[in-house]
Amino acid sequence: MHVIPVISTKGGEGKSTQAANFAGFLADAGLKVLLIDGDYAQPTASSIFALSYEAPHGLYELLMQTANLNDPSQIISKSVIPNLDVIVSNDPHAQLPTAMLHAPDGRLRLRNVLQHPLFQPYDVVIVDSQGARSIMLELIVLAATHTAVGVVKPILPDVREFIRGTINMIENLMPFSALGLKLPEIRILINCMKYTRLARDTYQQLEEIINDGSYSAHSDQIRVSLLKTCIYDLEIYVEGHAAGQPAHRLEKKTSRVSDSAFATMYNLANELFPEWKDNFDRLVTSAQQEVTHG
Ligand SMILES: Nc1ncnc2c1ncn2[C@@H]1O[C@H](COP(=O)(O)OP(=O)(O)OP(=O)(O)O)[C@@H](O)[C@H]1O
Ligand SMILES: [Mg+2]
Repeated sequence: MHVIPVISTKGGEGKSTQAANFAGFLADAGLKVLLIDGDYAQPTASSIFALSYEAPHGLYELLMQTANLNDPSQIISKSVIPNLDVIVSNDPHAQLPTAMLHAPDGRLRLRNVLQHPLFQPYDVVIVDSQGARSIMLELIVLAATHTAVGVVKPILPDVREFIRGTINMIENLMPFSALGLKLPEIRILINCMKYTRLARDTYQQLEEIINDGSYSAHSDQIRVSLLKTCIYDLEIYVEGHAAGQPAHRLEKKTSRVSDSAFATMYNLANELFPEWKDNFDRLVTSAQQEVTHG
C-alpha cells in the first residue's frame, strides 16, 4: 500500500482537482484506490465524484478514533467510479486541529490508523490536504509511505511560498527522523503550466533551486525533485470537475500541442508508479479502441 499526500501550503494550486483526477485514473487502470479528503473543513476532493454509498462517518471519526474500523461501511464511502473509495471530510467547525494538537500522538495519528487491516487491500491511498500550514498538514505528510506530491503553479510568488511554507514545514518535521521515521521525498508537480515565457522561466528557476539544493539548508535530508509531467492550464480540468468525471475520461485525444488529459495522467502514473505500467498500458489500449470505434 502506498500512501501519497498531495500538499502545498498555498491555497488554490490545484491539489484537490488533481488528487481526484489522478485517483480516478488509477482506479480506471484497475488499482484499488482510496481517496482521503484531508481538507477537514472544506470537502473538495471528496465531492468531485458522486458517491454511490455515503458512510455515516468520515475523516473526523477516523482521526478521533471513534469509528469502528472493523466495519468498513461505517467509514468507507463508495464513489460511482469502480475501485475508487473515499473517506469524506466532515469537520466543518474545524475541531480536528485542536484535538490533534492536544493528543500526544496527534502528528502520528493518520499514520497509525492507516496500519489497520481495513486499509491493507488498497494499492494506493491518496490524501488531499488543505492549502494552509497546520498540524493537519503535518499529520498528513507523516502518513506518507515514500512520496508526497507537492503541487505548485509556475508563478514566482507561488514557487517562493512553496519553499517558504511547504519545505519549511517539512524541515520542522525533521525531529521525527530521530524516531526512525523516514520523511517522504517531495515530488513537485507543476500544475496550470502555460505556454508563456514567464511560466517557462519560472519553471527553470525552480529546476535550478532543486538541482543546486538551495531550497533548504538541510537538502541532504529533505529530498525534493521535480516531476517531468506538467499539467497544463486547461478548461478540461475545470469541465471534469463540473461533470463529476476524472479528466482522462473526457479527453483521450487532442490536436493541441500539450498532451491530452489522458496522456498527462498516464505519464504522471508511470512516473509515480512505474511498477504498474502494464495496468496503465492496458487502459491506453482500451481508450484507443474506444476512440477508434467512436
Ligand atoms: N490544470 C488546471 N487547469 C485549469 N484549471 C485548473 C487546473 N487545476 C486546477 N484548476 C482549477 O483551479 C481551481 C483551484 O483548484 P483546487 O480547488 O483543486 O485547488 P486546491 O489546491 O485544492 O485549493 P485549496 O488549497 O483551497 O484546497 C479550481 O477552480 C480548479 O478547477
Ligand atoms: Mg483543495
